[in-house]
Amino acid sequence: MPSMIDTPTAEPTPQERWTAVDDYITGLLVPEDAALRDALEDSAAAGLPPIAVTPNQGKLLGLLARVQRAQRILELGTLGGYSTIWLARALPAGGRLITLEANAGYAEIARANIARAGLAERVELRVAPALETLPRLVDEGAGPFDLIFIDADKQNNPGYFEWSLKLSRPGTLIVVDNVVRGGAILDPDADDPTVGNDGIRGVRRFFELLAAGVGGGSIEATAIQTVGDKGYDGFALAIVE
Ligand SMILES: C[S@@+](CC[C@H](N)C(=O)[O-])C[C@H]1O[C@@H](n2cnc3c(N)ncnc32)[C@H](O)[C@@H]1O
Repeated sequence: MPSMIDTPTAEPTPQERWTAVDDYITGLLVPEDAALRDALEDSAAAGLPPIAVTPNQGKLLGLLARVQRAQRILELGTLGGYSTIWLARALPAGGRLITLEANAGYAEIARANIARAGLAERVELRVAPALETLPRLVDEGAGPFDLIFIDADKQNNPGYFEWSLKLSRPGTLIVVDNVVRGGAILDPDADDPTVGNDGIRGVRRFFELLAAGVGGGSIEATAIQTVGDKGYDGFALAIVE
């Protein structure tokens, strides 16, 4: 029998709904996995910020690596190695992934997570600001990479994109995370709480480089807005022509 006093049930907020839908998708399509779960738990216990990609985004990265038949992957921004594990698992036997991280403490956690996932042999983690490591990779002839995932500090995205092009071949897929920031990219003066105004300007400058590449025929690219457990954001995909 209905209660005489109707307690109004609050409508879920947009964020609650996005998180619930992410949970629904992940529950159906991204089965729980000990190595990935432990990587997130140990990262949290060590005080790393909760800014890894979500499970369904991680799986998307792995699927993109498989579609790309990637044998060589470069990642900028390791954190605790969560996206690294997704990407490295998509490599065939003999495949290699190089991941760049500026924070030595984060890198230590990531190394342990990557080793526990059984991926230490195919992953090389380099600890230094990525803008220092990228020219070294070019000098060493470490490229070309088949897939490059850019997910470090956002103010340096223009430089990361330009160095990535030097480490690419025709057909390389470049994926760039966090290119929408709740719509803040529309406003050059926006001060995003996570990446700051420098980050917003970095993403906007990256879009300008992307547009110049598309206009000049050297790049084919698009960007997609997303909502989910990590809020309203988006990613860009570019193929080097
Ligand atoms: C968003 S997190 C990476 C998340 C990770 N890709 C994942 O999804 O599991 C960004 C990372 O970039 C790192 N970072 C920030 N500035 C950097 C720089 N200049 N060079 C390399 N890494 C940097 C941060 O320490 C942080 O670990």
